[in-house]
Amino acid sequence: MGGVSGSGKTTVGILLAKRLNWLFADGDSFHPAANIAKMRSGVPLTDADRWPWLRIIGQWMDEQIAAGASAVVPCSLLKRSYRNLLLTGRPAARLAFLTADRDVLHARLAARHGHFFSARLLDSQFADLELPQPAENVFMLDAAQTPVQLTDEIIAGLGLVAAPEPPPLTPNNA
Ligand SMILES: Nc1ncnc2c1ncn2[C@@H]1O[C@H](COP(=O)(O)OP(=O)(O)O)[C@@H](O)[C@H]1O
Ligand SMILES: [Mg+2]
Repeated sequence: MGGVSGSGKTTVGILLAKRLNWLFADGDSFHPAANIAKMRSGVPLTDADRWPWLRIIGQWMDEQIAAGASAVVPCSLLKRSYRNLLLTGRPAARLAFLTADRDVLHARLAARHGHFFSARLLDSQFADLELPQPAENVFMLDAAQTPVQLTDEIIAGLGLVAAPEPPPLTPNNA
């Protein structure tokens, strides 16, 4: 899942992972402490801050691929070079990218509490944003839809198979 902050990567990603019965690991959780401190104080990350973080995410993806596991990993991936780093050479990886206009996202972020990324940083995200081009083979979504609609669209659009419901528990395993 890609998109600027507030586009709903984490919200939709959690829903998607539940629906598919896949692992979930938020890209934000791989940030070194120094990056989080920077964002908390309202300072945008630079490429130099982001490369080591993206490489750690790539290593985690490789571990899951090697183990035959499937996972949803929300990560903004604003620039083409970031997307290339994580997608090139990993044909199993697909990217769904949420787009929305700035005002919608600003309202969402202003209402979101307890997160290190403040609405003030949104402009820096739009400055960094290089919208995925058709040749990149990225699945684009309109983030103004509901999380359930977005999840359905990703599953249908990427041809993913929802995990079957676990069988009901029956007495004596009959
Ligand atoms: N499709 C949506 N419609 C309305 N609100 C949403 C939607 N997706 C997320 N939100 C809300 O917007 C805020 C940002 O969502 P979040 O998933 O944290 O975005 P991101 O991970 O891309 O920064 C949260 O408060 C979330 O509940
Ligand atoms: Mg998030």
